[in-house]
Order: sequence, then C-alpha cells, then structure tokens
Amino acid sequence: MVDPISSADLAAVEAEIAALVVAAGERHAGTGTALVEAVARLARDAGARRLWLVTTNDNVDALRFYQRRGFRLAELHVGAVDEARRLEPAIPAVGDHGIPIRDELVLERPLR
Ligand SMILES: CC(C)(COP(=O)(O)OP(=O)(O)OC[C@H]1O[C@@H](n2cnc3c(N)ncnc32)[C@H](O)[C@@H]1OP(=O)(O)O)[C@@H](O)C(=O)NCCC(=O)NCCS
Repeated sequence: MVDPISSADLAAVEAEIAALVVAAGERHAGTGTALVEAVARLARDAGARRLWLVTTNDNVDALRFYQRRGFRLAELHVGAVDEARRLEPAIPAVGDHGIPIRDELVLERPLR
C-alpha cells in the first residue's frame, strides 16, 4: 500500500522542466511562454514551490527567454559538459552562436 502524501511532503516538491523545444518554424508565436506558464500552474497546484531547469552556457536564447519569464540563475556547474563529453564524445564541442559548450547553468522560478 502506498502511504498518503502529507501536505508537508507536497510543500517540499520541486518541478523540473526536463526539455522544452518548440519546432523551429513555430517559434516566436507565444507557444514556449504558454507551455512554461501551463507547467508553472500545474506544478504550483500540485504543491511545488520551485520550478527549475538546466541549460548550457551557449544557449543564450534560453537564458534570455527564461529570465524574462521569472527565472533567475541559481547554480553554475563549471565544466559539467566537458566532463559529460569525456563519457559521451558525441556531445558537440561548439553550440549556439559558435560558443564552446562547457558549463551547465541551473535556473529557477519560485512558485509562490
Ligand atoms: C526557448 C524556446 C522553447 C522558446 O519557444 P517559443 O515558442 O519561441 O517561445 P515564445 O514565442 O513564447 O517566446 C520567444 C520570443 O518570441 C517573442 N514572441 C512571442 N510571441 C510573439 C509574437 N506574436 N510576435 C513576435 N514575437 C513574439 C517573445 O517575446 C520571446 O522573446 P524573448 O525570448 O526575448 O522574451 C524555443 O526557442 C526553443 O525550442 N529553443 C530550442 C530548444 C531550447 O533551447 N530549449 C530551452 C533549453 S532548456
């Protein structure tokens, strides 16, 4: 039998955006914003206090997008992608705008 979740447990829940991709030809029409707001609403209603995600240092478009939507920088993992690339050499060395991909950044948005 599964134990019921107490309200204290619910208050500790966090929600992660694991992936958010809008098809290239469909961008800049409000879809990404609508998805983020829908997820924030669902997570808040489920008792989560924090919505967070990881992106890479080259993804300046995502850094702009999320910071304009209530997220702020929470963590910097220096060299995390370099480390991952040692195990998975297929991870590209250069990303958006010709920027070397090296680090991971965590962004978070409080939900209440
Ligand atoms: C990041 C991403 C999800 C945004 O999706 P999107 O559908 O383009 O998002 P929106 O349309 O809501 O907003 C994008 C921009 O278009 C603008 N926009 C929204 N509606 C618009 C409209 N009708 N006319 C003109 N511009 C508009 C927004 O103001 C926003 O600008 P900003 O980022 O400077 O604030 C999309 O670019 C993507 O899939 N990128 C690749 C994957 C990625 O990097 N994911 C995030 C990493 S975790």
